[in-house]
Amino acid sequence: MTPTPTFDPAIADYYQRVPEEQRLEQGSFQLEALRTRELIRRFAPSPPATVLDVGGAAGAYALELAAGGYAVHLVDPVPRLVAEARHRSEVAETPLASCRVGDARALDLAEHTVDTVLLLGPLYHLTDPADRARALAEASRVLRRGGRLFAAAISRWASALDALARDLLQDARFAEIVEAAGDAPIPEIYDALRAEVGLAPLGLTDLTPAPRLDEPWFCCAEPTALQLRAI
Ligand SMILES: C[S@@+](CC[C@H](N)C(=O)[O-])C[C@H]1O[C@@H](n2cnc3c(N)ncnc32)[C@H](O)[C@@H]1O
Repeated sequence: MTPTPTFDPAIADYYQRVPEEQRLEQGSFQLEALRTRELIRRFAPSPPATVLDVGGAAGAYALELAAGGYAVHLVDPVPRLVAEARHRSEVAETPLASCRVGDARALDLAEHTVDTVLLLGPLYHLTDPADRARALAEASRVLRRGGRLFAAAISRWASALDALARDLLQDARFAEIVEAAGDAPIPEIYDALRAEVGLAPLGLTDLTPAPRLDEPWFCCAEPTALQLRAI
């Protein structure tokens, strides 16, 4: 049996404190939600079909897909978010098929049993490439032939844009993240899909919101050396 992977306590602590269940209703995250929903509608096999939402948090996508006629299973390692998803499912007209604590690297499902896997979160939290490969391999294992995987990664430019827009480069820890961003996972995920997991990539879409060029750092003072480096 695959040993249960250790879930990073720092990530567990973050989701214990931060209201992820409201994130997609706020600011530019609404754009992420709109675009993600549109892509799922366009590319997922039609209902009735089975969806596994891995890292599904409180069920923002899972519950909507259940309402649309899919049998949806949700897995997330954060008990607080799973409890919230379970509560929302209990009061929903169309509940989730199942909802449980689990990890993308060791899915508790039989081989080739689902039509669509959503992996919208785990990959960018798994900082070790071997862990990302394991999560992709697990998604591939549970997918039926011809099934679809929707996987989210964070662009190598995201931390630089964020740092510029919110003036975070003076924070040495954040500047280090911006420096390290050349090690972005997107090409590596494509390689893993092709070579290790045997899934054929269908497309890559960029949801990065454009930086606001009317931000004070951009239109006023001379950019600092740190800002120029990030640009
Ligand atoms: C930013 S939230 C995204 C939630 C939702 N899927 C969405 O797209 O809005 C990232 C989610 O990934 C989950 N996650 C992090 N590491 C994971 C892992 N190893 N396996 C499964 N889920 C994980 C977190 O608990 C969290 O719910």
